[in-house]
Amino acid sequence: MSSYTAKFDNWIRSEFVALNSQLEELYWQQDDKANVEGIGDSLKLALKEQGNALISDLLAEGNTDEGFDSAFDLLGNVGLFMAACRRHEITEPSRETTSPLVEASALAMHIGASIGVTPRFATAHLTTHNKAINGTYKRFTNLDDEALFLDYNTQGILAYKRASDALLKTLPLGISHPVTAELLEVVKKALMDVIASNNALYTQLDTERFFNCVRPYYKPYRVGKEVYRGANAGDFAGINVIDMLLGLCSANEPSYSQMLVDKFLYMMPEDQQILREAMRMQSLMDDFLEAEQYKNTDWFQKHGKLFIQVCKLHGDTAIGHHNQLVEKFIAQPSQHMQQQHMSKVTASGPPLPVLLDSLAKLRDRRAAAKRDDINTRFDDLNTLKQWIN
Ligand code: HEM
Repeated sequence: MSSYTAKFDNWIRSEFVALNSQLEELYWQQDDKANVEGIGDSLKLALKEQGNALISDLLAEGNTDEGFDSAFDLLGNVGLFMAACRRHEITEPSRETTSPLVEASALAMHIGASIGVTPRFATAHLTTHNKAINGTYKRFTNLDDEALFLDYNTQGILAYKRASDALLKTLPLGISHPVTAELLEVVKKALMDVIASNNALYTQLDTERFFNCVRPYYKPYRVGKEVYRGANAGDFAGINVIDMLLGLCSANEPSYSQMLVDKFLYMMPEDQQILREAMRMQSLMDDFLEAEQYKNTDWFQKHGKLFIQVCKLHGDTAIGHHNQLVEKFIAQPSQHMQQQHMSKVTASGPPLPVLLDSLAKLRDRRAAAKRDDINTRFDDLNTLKQWIN
C-alpha cells in the first residue's frame, strides 16, 4: 500500500466515521429526521475538505499499479467518501450536471475503468471484501444498526454464494449422479442459512435507525457526469446463478435480462465471469423435465424431491426479502416520510411503487407462483411434483 493510500484508508476508518456519526446524531435530534439541510455545516465542510485533500494526493501520485485487490479497495474508499457526501447533500445529483467532487471522480473513474467495475463503491466493498483491522471493518458510522445490517448482509451473501457454488458443481455431474444428491443437500442448508440470517435481521434491526441513518448512504450519486445507482445486497452473481440454474428465472426474459445487464459492472469481475457462464447453461428444471422416462427410478425420485425442496427454499428466501425486509424497512417507513424527501428513497432510482412492483415479480418468479401476467415455472414445478411419489 502506498503511503497516501494508507493515510486515506486510515482516515476512512477513523475521522470519516466520527464525522458521519456526529452528523447522524444531529439529524436524529430533529422532528423531521430526514432533513439534512442547514445541519452540521462545519462538520460537512470538514468531511469534504479532509477527503478532497487526501484524494488530491492520491490523484497526483497516479496509477501505482499495486494489483487488483488494492485498486478495488482504494475505489471502495473513494466511493465511501463520495456516498457520504451524497448522504449529507454536499453533492446532490439532481442539483448538478457533473459531480463537484472533481478529484474523487477522476480517481474513481480511473480505477473503475482500469479494473472493469463501476466507478462507485459497491456492496462487496462493505460486505464480502471489507478487511477488518483488529476486529473492526470499514463502515460509514459507528451506529450499531449499521453494523447489524452489514453483518447480516455479509452472512446472507456468503450463504447464497455457498448455494450457488454447490449448484454449479452439479452441472458436470448431471442430475442422475449419486453425488448430486449431496450437493443438493448443501444447497438446501445454505438457503436455510439465508433465511435464518434474514429472519435475524428482520427482528433485530431498528426500522427508524436503518431508514434514516443507514439506508441514505446507499443512494445513487454522480461520478463525473454519470449518476450511478446505489449499492444493494444483490450485487453478486450467486443469487442469479441460483435463479437460472434452478430454472426459476430465465436470461431470455426481457425484464430479467435487463436486470442482469444493469448489474454486471456492480459486481466483482470474478462474479461477472460466473454470471456470464451461467447465462449459457441449461437449467436443472429443464433437465428433470426432459428426463421424464426415468421418473420412476430411485435416483429421479430422490433427486427430484431434493430439487423441489431447493426451489421451495429459494422461493422462501425471496418471499422473506420482499414481504419482510423490503416491506418493514423501506415500504412502511416511506409511507410516513414527508413528501419532499420521497423522491430520494430507493437505491436504484425508480419511484418506489415501480421498484416494489419489479421486486414482487422477481419474488413470484423465484417462488414459482401462479401469475397470469408474467412467466413463472408454476406449471412445470407442479408437473415435477406429480412425478414424485
Ligand atoms: C435488492 C431492500 C437486505 C438481497 C434490494 C432492493 C431493495 C432491498 C429495496 C432493490 C434495490 C434498490 O434498493 O433500489 C433490502 C432491505 C434489506 C435488504 C430493506 C434489509 C434491511 C438484503 C439481504 C440480502 C438481500 C440481507 C441477502 C443477500 C437482495 C438482492 C437484491 C436486493 C439479491 C437484488 C434484486 C434481487 O435479485 O432480488 N433489496 N434488502 N437484501 N436485495 Fe435486499
